[in-house]
Amino acid sequence: MASSAGRVAVYPGTFDPLTNGHVDIIQRGAAIFDRIIVAILVNPDKSPLFTVNERMEMTREVFSDQPGVEVDSFQGLLVEYAERRQADVIVRGLRAISDFEFEMQMALMNRHLSSSIETVFMMPAESYTYVSSRLVKEIFALGGSVTGLVPALVETQLAEQQAAPGTQRA
Ligand code: PNS
Repeated sequence: MASSAGRVAVYPGTFDPLTNGHVDIIQRGAAIFDRIIVAILVNPDKSPLFTVNERMEMTREVFSDQPGVEVDSFQGLLVEYAERRQADVIVRGLRAISDFEFEMQMALMNRHLSSSIETVFMMPAESYTYVSSRLVKEIFALGGSVTGLVPALVETQLAEQQAAPGTQRA
């Protein structure tokens, strides 16, 4: 279902925070699809480090010079969001075999829910295969360096967030 807007992909996730592994996948996706929508899940069950708006702003800033990259947020079922956005493809990154089982389950469940949307897996550069948002947060909280693991502006935001903790998150 290629719409008049060309091939549209949705790259969904939590992105708390955006890592260089995510950036790598978004760039690879942008090279293949006419438009890639980075879709940040609004998840009321989680207590994120950054609000959805903060995560959207940071991601927009990182891709400000790439018109093929759009940043949005969504709630509810991913396939319903993808259908609303007339996307053909869901992009997910696969770092290692350990990601595979859960990702395959999600891809097949999403296909069960909507057969018109295909999941495409992309592998990041080897240098990012061990990078995750969870580890970035843990390392930063314990005083370790996250330079090279996240975009510079995310690193700055992490430092600001640490300096002003306790802000209402959502
Ligand atoms: O970055 P994450 O946390 O691995 O992303 C997970 C995400 C957002 C892709 C997944 O939780 C999701 O799609 N949530 C939306 C709700 C939904 O559609 N659930 C059924 C998935 S099979």
